[in-house]
Amino acid sequence: PLPNTAGGSIPCLPRLPLLGSLPWLSQHLPPHLLFCKLSHRYGSLFGFYLGPYYTLVVNNHHHAREVLLQRGRDFAGRPRMVTTDLLTRGGKDIAFSDYSALWKLHRRLVHNSFTLFGEGSSRLQDIALSSVDGLCAELLSSTGSAFDPAPAITRAITNAVCKLVFSATYEPGDAELQEVIHYNDGIVQTIARGGLVDIYPWMKVFPNKSLTKLKDCIYIRDRLLTRKLEEHKASLSDGDPRDLLDALLKGQTARSTGSQDEQISDDHVLMTAAEAFGAGVETTSTTLLWILAYLLHHPEVQRRVQQELDEQVGSERAVNMSDRGRLPYLDCVINEGMRIRPVSPVLIPHMAMTNSSIGGHSIPRGTRVLVNMWAIHHDPHHWDKPDLFTPERFLDANGQRDTPSCFLPFGAGPRVCVGESLARLELFLFLSSLLQRISFKLPDGASPPNLQGRLGVVLQPLPYKVTVSPRLGWEGGAK
Ligand code: HEM
Repeated sequence: PLPNTAGGSIPCLPRLPLLGSLPWLSQHLPPHLLFCKLSHRYGSLFGFYLGPYYTLVVNNHHHAREVLLQRGRDFAGRPRMVTTDLLTRGGKDIAFSDYSALWKLHRRLVHNSFTLFGEGSSRLQDIALSSVDGLCAELLSSTGSAFDPAPAITRAITNAVCKLVFSATYEPGDAELQEVIHYNDGIVQTIARGGLVDIYPWMKVFPNKSLTKLKDCIYIRDRLLTRKLEEHKASLSDGDPRDLLDALLKGQTARSTGSQDEQISDDHVLMTAAEAFGAGVETTSTTLLWILAYLLHHPEVQRRVQQELDEQVGSERAVNMSDRGRLPYLDCVINEGMRIRPVSPVLIPHMAMTNSSIGGHSIPRGTRVLVNMWAIHHDPHHWDKPDLFTPERFLDANGQRDTPSCFLPFGAGPRVCVGESLARLELFLFLSSLLQRISFKLPDGASPPNLQGRLGVVLQPLPYKVTVSPRLGWEGGAK
């Protein structure tokens, strides 16, 4: 155990030379569940050695708030990993780049670019809504038969991100769109396998199938995005930015005064565009798929959302962002979906950039910190019957929205999800439009979706099938 200044030492799993605590980390459970199990034995804050790296696991929300918010800056570092270095040209992105002045500048630029499209104009809403129309029409073309909704939902979200990033509008089945979906999926699958090479970087000298596949997908990704970047540079004008690439290019030139090391380079722009796909597609589409899975288990919740939509919006027009205030129950359903099945059950690893503390224990610089959001979202001290899907828990006694402080699906503090407002906009517009226009049911005789989930890069539901029928006035899917 590590020495500390207050209240004893932080319990730590046993360790062996070189292997660290690996023999004690069962491979049979996904990390979020394994950490919950270990916390029963070691307490809610415990340590282990990932190979040579001292790593802390935070399972309760007070400690999480210290790490993310109160001492957010101390813990805003990211450990370097072989796979993410490959993915991001050595940390030229936002998510896996270590904390630095340049990273802060880059993050602010990305944040401002999203705000420009989100709050500054209705472009984001238009983009999302046109993808929604396509999705509803596609789903309704399968009326009567049982089908897996995942491919159509992933395609619609990918389409929206393509429009946002480089203004491409694709018809279903477009070869370039298929290419984006294919390489994104390849990256997601291989990164999820991650594995030993991230713990023992010297292993990259050995042949490794996953790493080779990852490199192939990155090559295809970069070829496509580089082409888009060059096209954008050639046609960049003084007017409003057309999309995220334009906004980043404009931000890049506006700030090109510092030395080479302090500038947002073309690599940064490229890696940001890539990350909008990497971080923005799987997370959003999987959240929608979880919510849909729970609605199949709870038809009464689907009916209540539809009743709210009928009363507040009707069937004469599409839902838009200005309806959000009038649809509190729908918001609760989205929140409850993200609480009960957080797609990122353990946050991206944080790292202490300086000597700091958690819960009065001193924490040395360089410590890796894993925040187990699953444990926090299922903590019975804070949530009544945490394993039950109960959207009403996000309403107070007066029927107003109430967001408890231990609900953190996007993280918090300096490393909070930079796409949170975009994700919230997409979740709201997609779910409200789908349920306004379509009723979802279990196919006759089918058992309800398995809610256990499978951990890839995100926590996904196992594939399941639905049948759909149009709601009154929405037979074509769009107006
Ligand atoms: C980081 C959740 C959608 C971009 C994160 C983190 C979480 C998260 C939990 C890690 C926070 C931490 O390390 O402490 C989600 C969820 C989403 C979603 C639940 C959808 C339902 C998006 C979208 C984008 C995006 C649409 C962009 C297009 C990012 C980036 C980071 C991040 C760039 C890294 C931030 C940093 O390290 O500073 N997200 N996210 N995310 N997310 Fe999201």
